[in-house]
Amino acid sequence: MSGHGHPIPMTSVACGPLAGTADVPGDKSISHRSLILGAMCVGETTIAGLLEGQDVLDTAQAMRDFGAEVTDHGGGSWSVRGVGVGGFMEPAGVIECGNSGTGVRLIMGAMATQPITATFSGDASLNSRPMARVTDPLALFGCQTVGRAGGRLPMTLVGAVDPVPVRYTVPVPSAQVKSAVLLAGLNAPGQTVVIEKEATRDHTERMLEGFGAEISMRETDEGREITLSGRPELRAQHIEVPRDPSSAAFPVCAALIVPGSDVLVPGIGLNPTRAGLFSTLRDMGADLTYENERIEGGEPVADLRARFSPDLKGIDVPPERAASMIDEYPVLSIVAAFANGRTVMRGVKELRVKESDRIDAMATGLRANGIVVEDGPDWWIVTGAGHGNVAGGAVCQSHLDHRIAMSFLILGMAANAPVSVDDGGPIATSFPIFEPLMAALGARVSRSAGA
Ligand code: S3P
Repeated sequence: MSGHGHPIPMTSVACGPLAGTADVPGDKSISHRSLILGAMCVGETTIAGLLEGQDVLDTAQAMRDFGAEVTDHGGGSWSVRGVGVGGFMEPAGVIECGNSGTGVRLIMGAMATQPITATFSGDASLNSRPMARVTDPLALFGCQTVGRAGGRLPMTLVGAVDPVPVRYTVPVPSAQVKSAVLLAGLNAPGQTVVIEKEATRDHTERMLEGFGAEISMRETDEGREITLSGRPELRAQHIEVPRDPSSAAFPVCAALIVPGSDVLVPGIGLNPTRAGLFSTLRDMGADLTYENERIEGGEPVADLRARFSPDLKGIDVPPERAASMIDEYPVLSIVAAFANGRTVMRGVKELRVKESDRIDAMATGLRANGIVVEDGPDWWIVTGAGHGNVAGGAVCQSHLDHRIAMSFLILGMAANAPVSVDDGGPIATSFPIFEPLMAALGARVSRSAGA
């Protein structure tokens, strides 16, 4: 089930060379943060290039529910008239976050230090994901929580009336947890300090600085330490959202495995905390180049050119790179199936608590398509069959996970037999134009069940 309607079975069949330009949508992480920080300013924040995927639309609605005025001006242009730090209104109903872990966790952080109560819920995927990783640090600010067993949604948060600032070391590599603590720290007096042992995506820190918060970062023996001064007056901004590297991953990887392909993916955000996949693909021998490298809106950006790469080789992916490519392992495993040799992915326990258990979902589907995969609690290894030797032919379950659905459809573009997914509906959460964009490049994806 897509969680937003009836399941949409989809099938992808082998295609000729992929060619042309792929204009992928705006960055999902930055889109969520633009709306939430916009809602915490006084004045009007304008946003260009917002991702209009369901996850972000759910966050937009949530910000309205907390009292902000959020307006869609068409063509990715949005505005948010905020209520100021500490100005959230108590929502009248349940905050529905759909499929989005980022949405719910960041919004919980933003409301946890305000004297209001809110109840959060989501689809079957989100309601099965762990929330204690966020509610534990939020409790230190004085926020109370009642949820289902195991700290699952639906869950009610009673925000702190007199919040205190916290010093918190994030126990898992998670930008969502780090960001939830920083957003809570905005309405706590004094300094909130977050320490992360492994650097994760730093969009919240960069954007808080852009919105005028007092925030500093330093490297310590414990890891990266971020200090935020509470109760700033955030200044409304104009935000140009860069295009999403996690969405770019799909046309890029498709071009590498479909013979004869040559695809340009312009304007991709290449923040080093996000770009690990592209380094990994180059280490595997991918013909992937960065053109027109530049800085836009404080983020490094380039045009990516990906061409069919006949001599891909399996590699050991450096575990320290995991956080910078955490959402890209599913599609990397597809490229690995077309490589020669083993691609070893270690230090990736977090993949088990994403929109689905991504190791299990990919390993099961790849095996059904004739690929050898071994897996353990925090690792998996794909033994590549090499170009021309990937059987395909299976119907794979997407488990309400957009990246699983898209990954298997990419597999079908270069496998020997069609590949289907039981439900492509979740693709709309992050990449609503996936089907027309891939079709324009020459891919053959249809809304039909597999044989
Ligand atoms: C995100 C952080 C990551 C990532 C997710 C987006 C964010 O999750 O998987 O898609 O925008 O902060 P974790 O914080 O759970 O690693």
